[in-house]
Formats: sequence, C-alpha cells, structure tokens
Amino acid sequence: MDNQDEYLLNFRGYNFERTLVKMNIVENMDDQEIRDDDVFIVTYPKSGTVWTQQILSLIYFEGHRNNTENIQTIDRAPFFEYNNHNMDFAKMPSPRIFSTHLPYYLVPKVFKNKKVKILYIYRNPKDVLTSYFHYSNLMVILEASNTIETFMQTFLDGRVVGSNWFDHIRGWYEHRHDFNIMFLSYEDMKKDLRGSVLKICSFLEKELSKEDVDAVVRQATFHNMKSDPRANYEDIIKKEIGTRNDQGTFLRKGTIGDWKHHLTVDQNERFDRIFNRNMKNIPLKFIWDINEE
Ligand code: A3P
Repeated sequence: MDNQDEYLLNFRGYNFERTLVKMNIVENMDDQEIRDDDVFIVTYPKSGTVWTQQILSLIYFEGHRNNTENIQTIDRAPFFEYNNHNMDFAKMPSPRIFSTHLPYYLVPKVFKNKKVKILYIYRNPKDVLTSYFHYSNLMVILEASNTIETFMQTFLDGRVVGSNWFDHIRGWYEHRHDFNIMFLSYEDMKKDLRGSVLKICSFLEKELSKEDVDAVVRQATFHNMKSDPRANYEDIIKKEIGTRNDQGTFLRKGTIGDWKHHLTVDQNERFDRIFNRNMKNIPLKFIWDINEE
C-alpha cells in the first residue's frame, strides 16, 4: 500500500483508521507502560468488541453494574491504539481494561511474559463482513461500498481497518502459546450469555455472586444495551466520529446468520472456498446459523 489511501493508514502491513489512530502509541509500542494485571479485549472489527467492553465494565465496576455511575464503556475499556478520548492511561487504576484491534505482531513485546490477560473474541466472518458492510456505509471515516459484492472484495483483499480477517485470527491463534489468551466466540456469547460471562470471569479470576452475574447478563443483552447510553455508542458514532445518515445505529441487529440475507449462493460458495483454504489448520469452532449446535 502506498499510504495515500483516504481512510486507511498502513503501518508494518496492517491498516489503521487514518484519522483516529494515535501513531505515537503505535510507533512506540514497547515504550507503553504495561502492567501485569492489565486485561486486553482483542478483536477484529465488528466481532463484538463493544459488547465485550460492556461485559467487562459490568464485571469489574460495581458502579457500572448497579447503574450508579454514568461512565461510557469506551472510557472504562478504552481502545489502546485509538485512545479516542485521549485518556491518560497511566492514571487509570489497576486492573486496567483495554480494547484493541491490533494484530499479534504489533502488541508490546512484554505481552509475551504471559501476565497480561488477553480475551480474543471472534465471530463468523460472513457476519463480520455483513456487519462491516453496513458500518462502513454508515461511518464518514470509512469507505462506503455500493454493493456487498464490492465490499466483499475489499474485505477479502484486506483493504479495511483491521486488514485481512484471516491474517488477524490466524496470527493470534497460531501464536497463542506466546500469550495468556482465551478465545471465545460471539456466537457462544449469543447462544449462552450467562455461560460465557462465567467463562470470562473464570479466565479473569473474578468471582461474582449469583446476583451480580444476573446483573451482568441482564445489562449485556442486545436489547438492554441498545437503550443503555453508556454502552450503545450512539453519541460516539453520531456526535464524535460522524455518520453519513441518521438511519443506522451501532447496535444494528446483533444476531447470528444475518449474512444469509445479504450473500448470494455464488458469493457464499466463493466465501466458503476461501474460508476452507485459509482455515484448514485452525480448529476453532465457527457457528454460522442461530439454530446450529
Ligand atoms: P451487527 O452489525 O451484526 O448488528 P464491534 O463492537 O466489534 O464493532 O461489533 C459490532 C457488532 O456487535 C454489531 O453487529 C453489533 O450489533 C453487535 N453487538 C453489540 N452488542 C451486542 C449484544 N449485546 N448482543 C449481540 N450483538 C451485539
């Protein structure tokens, strides 16, 4: 890439959103202060990042859980490389929670001491593609596509923020032994939110009472998050970043299998071929349909 792209900034083979990325962080990754008890939510875009931010905010902060504090999830679990609100990370109390879309090879080297906890949330890429298509058309800072065919090509070529989906997940999975990492899928969270919250708590070594787990689960459902101004990103996308129209919302459908309403049989078969070729050695489980076990 020649780095003349209007929307993308390429650094060491990976695409960041040009206007939002903090290059002083990205270029000096190993100088960033990392604490042993830091927790990182790692995702490819449109895989459930904001959902996981809400879940971790509810798990870690009593004031979030009982609704006595009105702090947005983006300030509870800020994006590391974007730091949208220019927070002073050094002033955040431990344990700090961060969100990131970074590929495995750009994170600070100190992650390899396996202290930092990494929660990698992944989603079936046909739904990622579908969600990303709508999101790109909504947001002024992303390149719009007229048709899903055009976007599918752009997505498969990795000409999007986050670069190539296969590279992202394969990179993290193949290097999983270098990190203290847990993989969890969006679909698992959707099909069994309570079980997923418990798995996350166990990984994070956080013990919550049954009532607290109930409160986390209740406030992390799609329906309740959509009306929670701390978690629905309405102000962030409309007032801070900017949308092309007033119709779209960040929490769009929140379901499994919406790709079936978008991809043609031919597009789906092409996608399957590429998926099978790229993922044949990756035993992660993918769920493509809401009724699938
Ligand atoms: P859709 O566009 O398919 O609705 P990210 O935060 O990584 O950008 O991912 C955004 C996707 O996660 C959107 O998908 C959004 O609706 C979905 N999402 C957010 N909160 C959710 C929740 N509580 N339950 C299910 N999906 C959720």
